[in-house]
Amino acid sequence: MNIEQNKSLKSFNTFGIEASAKYFTEVGSVESFSELFHHSIFQTEKKMILGGGSNILFTGDFDGLVIHNAIMGLQVISEGETQVLVKAGAGELWHKLVLWCIQNGYAGLENLSLIPGLVGAGPMQNIGAYGVEIKDVFYELEAISMKTGELVRFSLADCQFGYRESAFKNKYKNDFFITSVTLRLAKINSPRSTYTFRVDYGDIKATLAEMNIQNLSLEAVSHAVCKIRNHKLPNPKELGNAGSFFKNPTISKAAFDELIAKNPLIPNYPLADGSVKIPAGWLIEQCAWKGKVVGHTGSHKMQALVLVNYGGATGAEVWQLAQDIRQSVKDKFGIEISTEVNVV
Ligand code: FAD
Ligand code: EPU
Repeated sequence: MNIEQNKSLKSFNTFGIEASAKYFTEVGSVESFSELFHHSIFQTEKKMILGGGSNILFTGDFDGLVIHNAIMGLQVISEGETQVLVKAGAGELWHKLVLWCIQNGYAGLENLSLIPGLVGAGPMQNIGAYGVEIKDVFYELEAISMKTGELVRFSLADCQFGYRESAFKNKYKNDFFITSVTLRLAKINSPRSTYTFRVDYGDIKATLAEMNIQNLSLEAVSHAVCKIRNHKLPNPKELGNAGSFFKNPTISKAAFDELIAKNPLIPNYPLADGSVKIPAGWLIEQCAWKGKVVGHTGSHKMQALVLVNYGGATGAEVWQLAQDIRQSVKDKFGIEISTEVNVV
């Protein structure tokens, strides 16, 4: 086990923010976590778990131990006529898992193509895109307790998934180091397959038509999703960002009725419980932030919900911009938008 000191985290966060960790180590197996657990630095220092750093904003240096997940492995652990259970090491790249499943004819992840980051962070915020969330295919995960060092299994119900939420973001915050995630996927090539593609969301159908796709396939849906994402979202390798900075807020039907009376064009998604989800990107754009550059940071010109680092931004600068945006949305619409990105 190698514990480095004063490690730069710049290449470990997609915002590209310069920050350092007092201590930094990589965990490549459950066994090496056990070894780390007994180390005096682990026992005495403040700790944080880091995956691909694509949903994190460092507002300063981390005065403790950063534990980077590098547990690998992709395997089928059980196979039936129409379904498989795929177990993935938490340190695998999420998109690599998606591509592996597509190549093997395992359906369910194609709409989640190209989400940056590692497998282990997927359940943290119940990653979602284009009408699908990880909870829809989730079977179970394994995690090590940061308090006892014990390996624990979590079922779907244990994880308490919601929109960009889970028990790991709330009651178990910083309590568990996720080591593997197991997903239940459909075998698309099975003669008894009844799998239905999810193409109703957003621009998927229009993009498939543009691509001249006659027959749906895992590859075609994945390509369409990648095409839409590449068009709308900045590539962190070119422009630092962490995807949507805020969550889309949900408001009551009464509040929505008032809002739409004043803003007839407001995009909205009514939910089953009567409340209404409003795209935060629209609210931010209406407050004239879209494409605005503030110092080294700003709201992206194609997607107002994405805050970017134009180069040399500090975490504090991005965080200040986020506060200003939040305040102006509150002032103009009376709606509180909350942060999706994990601010450290
Ligand atoms: P990190 O940023 O490293 O960590 C995120 C949080 O999870 C932190 O609190 C960390 O402590 C915790 N964590 C990480 N690994 C573990 C572990 N093994 N055990 C316990 N806790 C852990 N998200 C979506 O949901 N949908 C999208 O469509 C989407 N699009 C994006 C597009 C872009 C361009 C970018 C940059 C980001 C996007 N995101 C999206 C956000 C991000 O990709 C996801 O949240 C992703 O799951 C984060 O993975 P990560 O490994 O980078 O996590
Ligand atoms: N919109 C604007 N202006 C903008 C951006 C969006 O008016 O600048 C409005 C438009 O009406 C648009 C609607 O918002 O139709 C929705 O926009 P988009 O399809 O881009 O999706 P989003 O709601 O902004 C969410 C997720 C994304 C995910 C996409 C696709 C959240 C917080 N974000 O974005 O996830 O990829 O849907 O499913 O739920 C992430 O979590 O990091 C992320 C990128």
